[in-house]
Amino acid sequence: MKETITVIDNRTGKTYELPVTHGTIRAMDLRQIKSGDDDFGLMSYDPAFMNTASCTSRITYIDGDKGILRYRGYPIEQLAEKSTYLEVAYLILNGDLPNSAQLEEWESNVKLHTMVHENIKKFMEGFHYDAHPMGMFISTVAALSTYFSDAKRINDPLSRRAQIIRLVAKMPTIAAYTYRHSIGRPYAYPDNDLGYNANFLSMMFKMTEQKYHANPVLERALDVLFILHADHEQNCSANAMRSVGSSNSDPYSATAAAAAALYGPLHGGANEEVLRMLVQIGSKDKVPEFIKRVRAGETKLMGFGHRVYKNYDPRAKIIKQTADAVFEVTGKNPLLDLALELERIALEEDYFITRKLYPNVDFYSGLIYQALGIPTDMFPVMFAIPRTSGWLAQWEEMMTDPEKKIVRPRQVYLGAKQRDYVSLEKRK
Ligand SMILES: CC(C)(COP(=O)(O)OP(=O)(O)OC[C@H]1O[C@@H](n2cnc3c(N)ncnc32)[C@H](O)[C@@H]1OP(=O)(O)O)[C@@H](O)C(=O)NCCC(=O)NCCS
Repeated sequence: MKETITVIDNRTGKTYELPVTHGTIRAMDLRQIKSGDDDFGLMSYDPAFMNTASCTSRITYIDGDKGILRYRGYPIEQLAEKSTYLEVAYLILNGDLPNSAQLEEWESNVKLHTMVHENIKKFMEGFHYDAHPMGMFISTVAALSTYFSDAKRINDPLSRRAQIIRLVAKMPTIAAYTYRHSIGRPYAYPDNDLGYNANFLSMMFKMTEQKYHANPVLERALDVLFILHADHEQNCSANAMRSVGSSNSDPYSATAAAAAALYGPLHGGANEEVLRMLVQIGSKDKVPEFIKRVRAGETKLMGFGHRVYKNYDPRAKIIKQTADAVFEVTGKNPLLDLALELERIALEEDYFITRKLYPNVDFYSGLIYQALGIPTDMFPVMFAIPRTSGWLAQWEEMMTDPEKKIVRPRQVYLGAKQRDYVSLEKRK
């Protein structure tokens, strides 16, 4: 079979044969298709990138129709069951699972860099008392670039590696600081005797005790959530990371941009919206009425639907199991029954079936975060901590891609033709 496609331009009658590679044609191959000598050449129009591959990647594989998610070839179910977040972060960033020496070195490197400069604390004290944690998080990550001038050496692989370690290590610290600031508690410094998640929980919840002891079931639940959120190929925030990084910005600025993209309620802000929605619905008997409003297009069922998954999000399945383990320790979240009822009714409804709308990762994650004692407005921050390894893997892959160029889409200009300036007194 010939791996090409033949295009006939009905405007000119000319025929073009375009190569097909990995199921795609190169958009630049369309440029040769011209209606006349002064024609710029054919472009493809794809707002929101519904059918455009912006890069080649070897990190994450998703088959949205079958509900498959794999990091570097490993099924998410196996990683969630057997791995840890830091091991998964290594896998995503390096391409293969580490051997024990590599894992030990990676974990101790991350531990070495959990502290942030004391001035970061002072900087964060400047935020208003009721500032949204995600707003503080984004700004503080951006501010990190001012502390590490070597981060500008983006073409130096060793410098890139150093910033990657710093970013993965400091995210939990900044995240916990945003929480402590929002409730007026003194910041708790990292405790490097503890693992990644236990240390994060310690920085979040430690009071006057010498040592904070996290419940191992909750610590593991957090690890699973972090594994599930580590990467998700070319989503809105990964695209922001690559776009900003493509101009050779330092990785702190690019990560802040990615986090800003994550903040939106259609992306990482969705779990926050799910909780607000559940509270707003209030009780199981109000579910049919709420679904009616969704059907009428008056509101969305947050935590449902996905650009890529047109089947049950495999992460949502794992999260449901994790929720059971967590609720055994913390007692059941009263909103769980409401969420289950909402899911049950939605999955039977024609509106959701025909549009292939299933629960996504955010539908249940908020309930677990809430059970862990994490307030609703911290949810997007909880997403950003593990996604940092994914963003950085996407960035590293782009930086070493021989096809790397500054990202610069085209547009279809539909505005006014040239016209002459009219002085103010002559304008109607
Ligand atoms: C994730 C999301 C942004 C994907 O959007 P998308 O790929 O652009 O899909 P569309 O918005 O075109 O949705 C297709 C149809 O399903 C409907 N739809 C999608 N998600 C819906 C939801 N959560 N509730 C109700 N209707 C929904 C749309 O209204 C549209 O209906 P229409 O064809 O009658 O106009 C979208 O499903 C959504 O807003 N979900 C809620 C937010 C969320 O949970 N985000 C987290 C993602 S992990």
